[in-house]
Amino acid sequence: MTVSPSQQDIERISQGYDPDPARSSSLLSEAYTEALWAKIEPEAIFKRSWQWVCHGEKLREPGAYIATEVAAQPVCVIRDREGRLRGFYNVCKHRAHELLRGEGRTRLIVCPYHAWSYDLTGQLRGAPKTEHLKDFEPGVICLDPVQVEEFCGFIFVNLDPAASPLIQESGALADEIRQWAPDIEKLTFAKRLTYDIRSNWKNVVDNFLECYHCPRAHKDFCTLVDMDTYRVTTHGIYSSHMAEAGKSANSAYAVADASVRDHAVWWLWPNTCLMRYPGRGNIIVMQIIPAGPNRTLETYDFFFETADPVAAEREAIQYIDEVLQAEDIALVESVQRGMSTPAFNQGRIVHDPAGSGKSEHAVHHFHGLLLDAYAKAQAGPEEQAETNAAGSS
Ligand code: FES
Ligand SMILES: [Fe+2]
Repeated sequence: MTVSPSQQDIERISQGYDPDPARSSSLLSEAYTEALWAKIEPEAIFKRSWQWVCHGEKLREPGAYIATEVAAQPVCVIRDREGRLRGFYNVCKHRAHELLRGEGRTRLIVCPYHAWSYDLTGQLRGAPKTEHLKDFEPGVICLDPVQVEEFCGFIFVNLDPAASPLIQESGALADEIRQWAPDIEKLTFAKRLTYDIRSNWKNVVDNFLECYHCPRAHKDFCTLVDMDTYRVTTHGIYSSHMAEAGKSANSAYAVADASVRDHAVWWLWPNTCLMRYPGRGNIIVMQIIPAGPNRTLETYDFFFETADPVAAEREAIQYIDEVLQAEDIALVESVQRGMSTPAFNQGRIVHDPAGSGKSEHAVHHFHGLLLDAYAKAQAGPEEQAETNAAGSS
């Protein structure tokens, strides 16, 4: 069931937020702890934003497909015979069984339940034993399409049929990524790390969006990058987080032979992070997937010049997994526990007008986008009356 915020919900959740980060408080803790907001967010945010699926390398050949979930909806993406990328709800039109599983290549999409089959454009091609049905027109049966886009070498989908293309919505992001990672399309998948985190997804995003915590919480990271050069800028639906590699020896992982000398990181609304770390050519994609008010599932995919990481990359993966992620997960889980007490409601955003990494203006930018999304999802008067009637019966 769709849950929409009422006008009172919107007024309450907007308290303390000011468009000026120097005057603003953070988003109310209620948004991170209450089931109401976790029920509102799939519709308000995840079913109408661009969601990362995979690197384009998985879908280069005709018939190549991947099945995934977006906002808990089964979705598949497939390259058709003409080379066009197509997205569908991965749901059979007979009795709703899921069609494709995992990833692979196929000439026909065949349902594992009663073997209805669809071509790669989603058109029904075969339905056993249906020839005696009355008024049954297989020619008009098609899988429901989903918007799909290849963006900077990665595949994204959007469940909102009215969404504008990502390339348009994201302004200069593609140019920025290509400037810092011109090899992005040639990189290949090397490793996935997964995490099950006892915190709301927005705490994971908040933590990602500021390096105010880095000097205290990530001692090694502050030797990997030169914190004096760290700059954060916000733009439309993304923010950029840039720094040069540290100039002296660092305690995180070896970068002596690095061809990439900068740390370039982007956050894309609402839950995708792309990172280019000092080292060989690389991109890391972090997906932050909500799994209830107090739980987040995170994937961390590494793309390198080769599928087998070299020694320095294995060291980087180990550092990220065992040090950096362990530090960040402990932080966001602690914040979630703190937010779940009566001792915290909201705190002040710390703002450095110079835009340094030790500022929380990108967190404030994220909170502004969240409040906009909640406001857009606000129930109209009729829906509100229905919700009230259902609640009082
Ligand atoms: S549910 Fe797919 S063929 Fe029956
Ligand atoms: Fe961190």
